[in-house]
Amino acid sequence: MKTVGIIGCGAMGKGIVKNFLKTGYKVYVYDLNEQALKRVAEKGAIIAHSPKEVAMNVNIVITSLPTPSIVKETLVGKDGIFTYLEKESIVIDMSTVDSETAKGLGQKAEEKNILFFDCPVSGGPSGANDGTLTIMVGGKRGSFPKLDPILKVVGEHIFYLGKNGAGQAAKLCHNMIVASTIVSLGETFMVASRAGLELEQLAEVMRKGSATRVLDVFGENILKGEYDNVLFSLEHMLKDVSLYGETAKTMKVPSFIGSVTQGLFEIAEEKGKGKLDTSAVCEVIGELAGAGIGTSNSTLSVTEK
Ligand SMILES: NC(=O)c1ccc[n+]([C@@H]2O[C@H](COP(=O)([O-])OP(=O)(O)OC[C@H]3O[C@@H](n4cnc5c(N)ncnc54)[C@H](O)[C@@H]3O)[C@@H](O)[C@H]2O)c1
Repeated sequence: MKTVGIIGCGAMGKGIVKNFLKTGYKVYVYDLNEQALKRVAEKGAIIAHSPKEVAMNVNIVITSLPTPSIVKETLVGKDGIFTYLEKESIVIDMSTVDSETAKGLGQKAEEKNILFFDCPVSGGPSGANDGTLTIMVGGKRGSFPKLDPILKVVGEHIFYLGKNGAGQAAKLCHNMIVASTIVSLGETFMVASRAGLELEQLAEVMRKGSATRVLDVFGENILKGEYDNVLFSLEHMLKDVSLYGETAKTMKVPSFIGSVTQGLFEIAEEKGKGKLDTSAVCEVIGELAGAGIGTSNSTLSVTEK
C-alpha cells in the first residue's frame, strides 16, 4: 500500500488528506491542533504525534503549514523530518513561503539525499477538497516524473517552473495579482456605490467587459514586449485613469491604487509612450528595475535554463 505523511491539516491540508485517502494511500497526519487531527482521523488517517513519527513511517511527506519559520522548523529544525527520512524520500511543501526559504530547504535536502520540491498551490480549500488545485513546482527537473503522479492526486493543473524557489516565486506573483485586484475592486466598488450604481450590475458589466480579462487581452503584448501593437492607446488610458481619480475625489474615496496607477501612466506618457499600447506602462516598471520584462538580463536566478 502506498503511504504518505501530511503535516498541517487545516483548511487546505484536510482536503489534501481526503484525496490521498480516496486514492488508496495510507495517510499519516500531524498537526498541532487536536480538532484538525480528529477531523482527518475520522476519515481514516492515522494520527502521528510528532513530525518525527510521520517521517519514521513514510517516504513521501507533504506539508501545508502557515509560515516560512514553521516550515523550516518542521523540516530542518531540532527534530525536523529531514533528520529521520530515508534517503531518496520525497518532501513536497505546499505551503506558501518565499523563494529563498525554498532554495535553502532544497540545499539542505540535497545534503541529505532527499528530494525536496516547493509546490505552492492555488484553488483554495474547495480546490484541495475536489482535487483540482493548480500546482506551481520548483525543484530538480530530472526528478519531476517521480513527483507528477503524487501531485495528480490533488492537482488538476501542474506546472513545472524551474529550480527550487521557482514555484514560490510564481505563487507570490500570482497572489499579488489576486490581492491587488481585490483592493482595486474594493476601491472602485466604493466609488461606484457613492455614485449610486447597483453593485451587482456593475459586477456583471466587469465580467462581460475587459476588466476580468486583462491578461487575455493585454498579456500577449506584455509577454512579447510588443507595445506598438496598439489595442488601446496609453494616452487614452491615462485620460480615463485621471478622470476616475477626479471622480474618486468627488466621491470622497481615497484612491491608493488609482493614484499609483495614474502616476505610472503619467511617467509613461512623459517618456513619449502615449501613442503606444496601454501595456507600454510595463516598460516603465522594467526601466525602473533596470531591465526589460522577460529579457535575459532581467533573470536573477530561479528559472532553470
Ligand atoms: N486557504 C487558502 O485558500 C490557501 C490557498 C493556497 C495556499 N494556501 C497556503 O497553504 C498553507 C496552509 O493554509 P491553510 O489555509 O490550510 O492554513 P490553516 O491555518 O487553515 O492550516 C494550517 C494548519 O497548520 C497547523 N500548524 C501550525 N503550526 C504547526 C506546526 N508547527 N506543526 C504542525 N501543524 C501546525 C495548524 O494547526 C493548522 O491546522 C499556507 O501557507 C497558505 O498560505 C492557502
